[in-house]
Amino acid sequence: CKSVGYKKDMTGMKVLVTAGPTQEAIDPVRYITNHSSGKMGYSIAKACMLRGADVTLVTGRTSLDAPLFVNTIPIVSAKDMYREVISRSQDMDIIIKAAAVADYRPCNVSDEKIKKKDDDTMSIPLERTDDILKYLGEHKKAGQFLCGFSMETQNMLTNSKKKLEKKNLDMIVANNLKEQGAGFETDTNIVTMITPDQIFELELMSKEEVAFHLLDKILELKNKM
Ligand code: CTP
Ligand code: CA
Repeated sequence: CKSVGYKKDMTGMKVLVTAGPTQEAIDPVRYITNHSSGKMGYSIAKACMLRGADVTLVTGRTSLDAPLFVNTIPIVSAKDMYREVISRSQDMDIIIKAAAVADYRPCNVSDEKIKKKDDDTMSIPLERTDDILKYLGEHKKAGQFLCGFSMETQNMLTNSKKKLEKKNLDMIVANNLKEQGAGFETDTNIVTMITPDQIFELELMSKEEVAFHLLDKILELKNKM
């Protein structure tokens, strides 16, 4: 009988992956969110599990099934994700932040449904959410590998490199939303892996394949730490 499966080169490693969008409530009926499907993060969590890692997936609301053999923690808002990630981060060997976290949330959440008024316009005051990845970069323990994602529609390399430095990351995976076959709701992606001193471009491939390539690179770099 031929053995099938992937090499178990992550056995014994603890990995935290985040995925999906966050939802920021306006009132009991409405919220602010983004187009993240969660597919990239779920593919990474699954690939880590197949390679033998002990995987925790902190995920915003998606239409995907929780991956088997992964400790899946569902969250709704950026604040929930912050709490669930920060409370587990010190234990982790690798953290991969594929989630699309809201940068702003409504300053106040109305207890009652907001009724429309006679004015033609209305505005909702927003406040900044905490940057989870920045916190993780500031509190990175020795040997821990921190990988972020970067979604851009222009100046992808320059902007992503800035995020890598500002958040003290070991790698950032950049995707340009305007490229065909890349981005939020597709099953495929075109990504560029950026480290402090190197850039690796991957061609168009399924998000599952992207996940395996990312992990190959992360393990190679982690072994040199
Ligand atoms: N991120 C986070 N917490 C936030 C915002 C973003 O942890 N409050 C993480 C994302 O999960 C992602 C990385 O930061 O891994 C980059 O997110 P991105 O939205 O591309 O960049 P920002 O730093 O938020 O900058 P901007 O949206 O202005 O491009
Ligand atoms: Ca952002």
